[in-house]
Formats: sequence, C-alpha cells, structure tokens
Amino acid sequence: MTDLTELQAALLGRIEAAQDIAALEAVRVEALGKSGSISEMLKGLGKMSPDERREQGPKINGLRDAVATAIAEKKAALETAELDRKLAAERVDLSLPPAPERRGRVHPTMQVLDEMIAVFADMGFGLAEGPDIEDDFHNFTALNFPPKHPAREMHDTFWLPENEAGERKLLRTHTSPVQVRTMRTSNEKLPAWIANGQAPPIRVIVPGRVYRSDSDATHTPMFHQLEGLVIDRDIHMGHLKWTLETFTRRFFEADGVVTRFRPHHFPFTEPSCEMDVQCDRSGGSVKIGQGADWLEILGGGMVHPNVLRNCGLDPDEWQGFAFGLGVDRLGMLKYGMPDLRDMFAGDVRWLEHYGFSAFQAPNSSTGLS
Ligand code: DAH
Repeated sequence: MTDLTELQAALLGRIEAAQDIAALEAVRVEALGKSGSISEMLKGLGKMSPDERREQGPKINGLRDAVATAIAEKKAALETAELDRKLAAERVDLSLPPAPERRGRVHPTMQVLDEMIAVFADMGFGLAEGPDIEDDFHNFTALNFPPKHPAREMHDTFWLPENEAGERKLLRTHTSPVQVRTMRTSNEKLPAWIANGQAPPIRVIVPGRVYRSDSDATHTPMFHQLEGLVIDRDIHMGHLKWTLETFTRRFFEADGVVTRFRPHHFPFTEPSCEMDVQCDRSGGSVKIGQGADWLEILGGGMVHPNVLRNCGLDPDEWQGFAFGLGVDRLGMLKYGMPDLRDMFAGDVRWLEHYGFSAFQAPNSSTGLS
C-alpha cells in the first residue's frame, strides 16, 4: 500500500529532521498519540474483514514499530548531543588562576589586646569586666575623686540624660570603676559577671572600652584601656615595678628595654606614678627599646586607702597596686600606626593593611614575626 509507505517515509523524515526533544515529541503525538494517524489506523483494524485484517495488520503494526523505534533512537541521539554540548560548554579549566578571595582580618586593637592578655595570664592574672554605662559612684566617688574634680566636667565625660530616679549615668571614662566592682563583694545587685565581686587576694586585669569627649590624632571619643589590680597582704611598689617592667619587655619583645617611673598624681592611688619607656624619636617615628628619649605609656600606683575603705577593705590589712594603660595607643607604638582615629574609621583598606591574620602559628601570642 503506497500510502502506508509514503506515510512511513514522511514520518521517518520528520523524525530525522527534529532539532530537539520538543519537536520529536510533536511527531510522536501526531503519529502514535491517542488520536494519532497510526493509532487511528490500528483502531480501524477492528472494522475490517478477516482477510483484509490479515493483510493490513502486519503492515500497520510494522509501521508503528518502525516509527516507535526511530523516535526512541532519535531521542537517545538528541540527549547524547545535549550532554556533549553541556560538557563542552561547562568544562572546568583547572589551569586558570583562582578568583581572589577576600579574607577577614583581625583588628589591631583585638590583636594587641590578645597579646596583652596572654602576657598577664602568664603571670597569673585573671580577667574581670564591667559595664560601659556606669554611675558616678563607681566611676568617680568610690575612686576618691573630690566632688569638684575637673574630670567630672561636661567636656570630658559623656553624661546620659537624667533617669526617673534623678540620677545621671555616664559612659565610663576609664576601666578603673571595675577595680571598685571587683573589690566590693557585698550588696551589688548586679549579675555576677558584671559585679565580679571577689575577696582578696585579687589579681585581675580589666580590658574594655572607655569614652571621653575628645578627638585628634592621638585621642578618639571611644578607645580601649587595660586596667590591672592586685590586692594582697604586704604588696608594695616593688611588685608594681616588676610586673610592669616584665609586661613591657614581653609585650614589646625587647628584653633590654629600659623603663623609668616618675611621681604623678591620680586620686585613686598613693603614691602614684607614670611609667616611661626608653625610645628613639630621631627618625620621625618612635622606636621602642633604643635611643635616648622617653615615652610615657601608663599610669599606676598603690591603691589609695580611701579606695580600699570605699570597697569595704581594711587598709591596715590589705594593700595593693593598680595600673591603667591605653591598648590602642600601645598598639600604635608597637605596629607603627600614625593616627588613632584610623583605628575606628572602619576603612576596609586600612584593616587589610594593618590587620592581622586570624591564623597564627601555635604558641605565638604576638603578631610580630
Ligand atoms: N584611670 C586612669 C586613666 O584613665 C589610668 C590609671 C592610672 C589607672 C593609675 C590606674 C592607676 O589603675 O593606678 O587615665
């Protein structure tokens, strides 16, 4: 029958020409779908006489098989071609250089703080913390500041608006109030981590943020201090001197660095001192541990008997020393950063330059290598 032969040739031609799976599927539906041309012919077999059916049956079935086989083969070929195309287009070229990866850096303040904590932890100091929002009592009064002391004035201290109780809180101007919180063991209705109350002997350092209304190349309204407090029996200035000298040598990694202690005044220590380190300013920058110049790096002294009394300790029984230093400032000195304000400007390029890798060699407490 010519029309069957023609139909087969036409269908096979269209199958062969199909460019994609969708075109192929259209041919399949047209021929073999529910009302497709071949399906209709198969349905027609039932109405034929037995003789006709015997003759037409094998032909129509042969046509159906030929078309179904051709579709299956074409489908497989199209799928293989599609896979080859994807493999060629999506091939990974392992010889290409990797895309640059932006890595986070450790902020110098945090690096320096970790280094300081490591040095003091080695000497047996524990850590204490206190709140950034303080009250006048802990920040000033308990620390023996006279009522009219200039540090209480507006231009130094950030005062908060008066609260319902008529009290004005403040942003702590130094970490020294945590001395008070640490020594006062009783009646602090504060969470334990803030109150830090403990009985002597006490040996703690207190790292933290402090705030003063000040801004220039060496001052920012927020900066970091590290306070130290040691309370025990028979503590004297010699202990203070050894502790601070040892700290300085380890922190600056200069065993021979020379320090000098000058008399000074702080309300909360008696006697009070400032410590200078030997340095060289001749080359335009400051080099610690060499040269004939001096640079003040911290304040300290013996805890004033009034402070001990304000904290419920008997000065005839307990003595101690305290000190305070500027974390960011010592970081600038150690790592040669010229302007303190850059430390908190949040410029990522600055951080990439001055920041530290988060991955350090084990046992290394310092960023110097
Ligand atoms: N609190 C002082 C300041 O902010 C620093 C200081 C000096 C702390 C002497 C001390 C100390 O504990 O004994 O300038």
